[in-house]
Amino acid sequence: MTEFTWLGHSCWLIETAGQRVLVDPFLDDNPAAAVKSADVAADFILVTHGHFDHVSDAGKIAARTGATVIANYEICEWLAKQGAKKSDAMNTGGTTKQPFGRVKLTPAWHSSTMPDGTSGGHPNGFLLELEDARVYIAGDTALFSDMKLIGAKKLDLAILPIGDRFTMGPDDSILAIDFLQPRCVAPMHFNTWPPIAQDAQAWAHRVQIETNASPIVVAPGEKFSLDK
Ligand code: NI
Ligand code: MN
Repeated sequence: MTEFTWLGHSCWLIETAGQRVLVDPFLDDNPAAAVKSADVAADFILVTHGHFDHVSDAGKIAARTGATVIANYEICEWLAKQGAKKSDAMNTGGTTKQPFGRVKLTPAWHSSTMPDGTSGGHPNGFLLELEDARVYIAGDTALFSDMKLIGAKKLDLAILPIGDRFTMGPDDSILAIDFLQPRCVAPMHFNTWPPIAQDAQAWAHRVQIETNASPIVVAPGEKFSLDK
């Protein structure tokens, strides 16, 4: 059974097939984080793009744990310089087979400059084929109609940004859910700071009324699993 723990912002810990998969670690400088980076264990670290609020703790966690970084080539190279010893570089549209399942790098409409100003390549999302769930993690992105293609095979869970300003907001997330047709949907990238404040309960109510998906809203530090 796969368990999803929201650590705050866009950081998720996915425990599946005996592996700990950490996504977009941004903990030590996140005022809403559930844990500090020193207290997180990981076998794999997935990074969607190069912005500090997704990558800032990835290098030190990778260096401490020996976790394998999975991201585009530019981000893997950058994190190697931060101390990550293992990586499996990809680019948009590609799929790799990992011990916890298959990973596809999906497109995202956003930017991806690394914290030191170097290029992070194109921003991405992830499509994960886990042993018991197909999961789409959108990353930071605007709404785009090719989400229909990402949802063409049945999705058990979509994890979408709802904060607005830097990514799509609640209105466009409802359209995204219509394109993706996931069974369940969870929000991220909101309430970390005032400029991306959102009412997650109001969003969940809209999801229930306006879409076919079941909303799952958890607080930082809380986990959920998907009932079959
Ligand atoms: Ni970003
Ligand atoms: Mn971001």
